[in-house]
Amino acid sequence: MVEDSLSPASISDNLETHFVGQRVIYYPSLASTMEVAKREAQQGAVEGTVIIADQQTAGKGRLKRTWLSPKGNIALSIILYPDLLYLPSLIMLASLAVVHGIEAVTGLKPQIKWPNDIVINGRKVCGILIESNVRGNTLDYAIIGIGVNVNLKLTDFPEILPAATSLSDELGRDVSCLSIIRSLLVEIERLYLALTTGVSIYEEWRDSLGTLGRRVRVKSGKIGYEGVAESVARDGSLLLRHPDGSLTKIVMGDVTLRD
Ligand code: BTN
Repeated sequence: MVEDSLSPASISDNLETHFVGQRVIYYPSLASTMEVAKREAQQGAVEGTVIIADQQTAGKGRLKRTWLSPKGNIALSIILYPDLLYLPSLIMLASLAVVHGIEAVTGLKPQIKWPNDIVINGRKVCGILIESNVRGNTLDYAIIGIGVNVNLKLTDFPEILPAATSLSDELGRDVSCLSIIRSLLVEIERLYLALTTGVSIYEEWRDSLGTLGRRVRVKSGKIGYEGVAESVARDGSLLLRHPDGSLTKIVMGDVTLRD
């Protein structure tokens, strides 16, 4: 059954976390949860605060793209205050939490497409955007924005149809956003506590990447690369092997599979 709306209580009540999702700020409609989260973080919101909207009118994607965010899908941002040291790992943490959350609720087996798209059968089902404010050696805050296509009918959105999918399109039935959100928040906190107490999540993230070993094209800023996605470094960078044997370390970019 799909909920009409997502109340803060439906998310927080009996949620098995200590802080993530214990405070939820809900909007029926909002430009972007990232903007409200940023304002809240600047005002010192308690760690783990979640900003959630039934729909976004100006959802933000990576690389200044827009993110389609109609009702029936998940659009949320989580405020965290980790040490700067952990900033590169937040991408890994968020991707793994989404994979675990989707798998636990639906049984589907999503993969991670470097750096942080979640795909099912090669099509994107979730996008993650991390924004932060760093001053010198200090991280003021980090915001993890997560958008999941839960009940998106892709035939209604031909512009993204070839590259995207949704949980309902994969399963042929509606999916509860609430179940995915609650599972996701529990996983975020579990992985965050592991990370900040010295447990590495890099190996699991690396092993969940569907990109490794594949021939890819990577667009990083204005530069395009081609080669085999050989591995990832501990800081999350992609190590790309070129046909001439040389290796490039790519900190961020967009990957297209070539094989
Ligand atoms: C991407 O793949 O480009 C990242 C998409 C991130 C979308 C989410 S939806 C919740 C949060 N609010 C936004 O405006 N963007 C992120």
